[in-house]
Amino acid sequence: MTQLLEEIKRRRTFAIISHPDAGKTTITEKVLLYGHALQTAGTVKGKKSGQHAKSDWMDMEKERGISVTTSVMQFPYSDHLINLLDTPGHEDFSEDTYRTLTAVDSCLMVIDAAKGVEDRTRKLMEVTRLRDTPIITFMNKLDRDIRDPMELLDEVETELNIACAPVTWPIGCGKQFKGVYHIHRDEVMLYQSGQGHTIQDVRIIKGLNNPEVDAAVGDGLAAEFRDELELVMGASNEFDQELFLAGEITPVFFGTALGNFGVDHMLDGLVAWAPQPQGRATDKGEIDSTDAKFSGFVFKIQANMDPKHRDRIAFCRIVSGKYEKGMKMRHTRIGKDVRISDALTFLAGDRSLLEEAYAGDIIGLHNHGSIRIGDTFSSGDDYRFTGIPNFAPELFKRIRLRDPLRQKQLQKGLIQLSEEGAVQVFRPLANNDLIVGAVGVLQFDVVVARLKAEYNVDALYEHVNVATARWVYSDSERKLDEFRRKAEQNLALDGGDNLTYVAPTMVNLQLAQERYPDIEFNTTREH
Ligand code: G4P
Repeated sequence: MTQLLEEIKRRRTFAIISHPDAGKTTITEKVLLYGHALQTAGTVKGKKSGQHAKSDWMDMEKERGISVTTSVMQFPYSDHLINLLDTPGHEDFSEDTYRTLTAVDSCLMVIDAAKGVEDRTRKLMEVTRLRDTPIITFMNKLDRDIRDPMELLDEVETELNIACAPVTWPIGCGKQFKGVYHIHRDEVMLYQSGQGHTIQDVRIIKGLNNPEVDAAVGDGLAAEFRDELELVMGASNEFDQELFLAGEITPVFFGTALGNFGVDHMLDGLVAWAPQPQGRATDKGEIDSTDAKFSGFVFKIQANMDPKHRDRIAFCRIVSGKYEKGMKMRHTRIGKDVRISDALTFLAGDRSLLEEAYAGDIIGLHNHGSIRIGDTFSSGDDYRFTGIPNFAPELFKRIRLRDPLRQKQLQKGLIQLSEEGAVQVFRPLANNDLIVGAVGVLQFDVVVARLKAEYNVDALYEHVNVATARWVYSDSERKLDEFRRKAEQNLALDGGDNLTYVAPTMVNLQLAQERYPDIEFNTTREH
């Protein structure tokens, strides 16, 4: 038991949230460098060198230079073991991102300090708010001319509604970027440019008023910086662990991911302050992470991780206890016990077979079609984890075959892809159409490409007159039956056979809601 507690205590499971181009990939690379998971930085993404991240597994991703998939990386840092869950940068895959955020215990928010708070960061922060996830902030690109740091903190506070507690403060920026002052350690850390690919020996000067600081950064800048810092200390919040854990205050670090400066300060903060793996809610109450019995939930399913293997992997976040090779788990949705001896772990994208894993870790389970997003695995008890959402799609197309004889394969493919969360499928009660719903337009392209590659189905899209969809539900069987009869023309079953109202216009939806007050029209559905 104590070993279990020790293992859980040293784990940190987090994801990076940011607007595209703020530097998420670059930071990931540097984080892996510190975790000694990469020999030299520059191998996660190198459009220029023609090398691609291991997570860029689909040809389409390579062509477009975007990362569609969520990958998981585990690496050691100081005495800790860190799980970093990567999220797709492209907003068309935001559903995946939302679900990934249910599997982490803290987030790193990366902000381009020349730009400030951007659109996607705002949206992702809203999602982290649903669970009050603790947030650490990294102000990136200090090697460029950035906005006034005080103004940046103000913007985070007012726009994202979270208090900021600076932990480091920058000395200059752009060509004049000299390093940072670590407020908690009372140390000046000096930046040297051109060392972005290795772990640098950073020169540290103890004490803000140490004359060595003046010599190192220049008299003028040193004096100016001390004045500024005095103002900052007066005007900003002090870090508070409890408020941080409640998601109300964020420690802020400054640096440059490209120049590999400041990322380690942030990592030190992460291991010191971010919570160890936390429990999760189930329909039968809370499961604590230190519960000795194994439990976990699936937040993501991914096909073709490795084209050579041609398989589908279900990503399971362990909520409590320990996974051991060969152990029996209960797949609670189907009420079946399964023996798992080939779970995978993901060290910087390389897969390797796993002997054991603990709460907070992500394991990859081979999925032969029985695992869906949201599924719970337990040590024998029947319950399910809650809070893993499906979002009502906003874009719809009718999917049609070039070869009508492959209708069965098409349907099978679409249902499997919808179980993975790659897309949503709706089958109207009144006809044989297949309507595909997505949150982002790129999802359609991915689905057509995958139907071809994995199911040998040549499909194309057509316009369909659908504006929105809602999952419908009622406490009264009788009312639901009546609704089903009267509104049949607008009803469909989704990939999991859940009844859905498919509306041609928003006005139509509104009218239906007024006409059937006993029916709930939901924009999200829990798996
Ligand atoms: P993302 O994953 O959040 O989309 O961002 P990514 O790391 O790909 O960074 C976006 C661009 O910003 C990249 O340049 C990257 O090199 C640059 N960048 C990241 N961190 C810093 C930093 O600290 N300082 C400066 N000056 N630039 C930074 P790119 O030219 O678009 O990409 P690439 O062709 O170099 O891969």
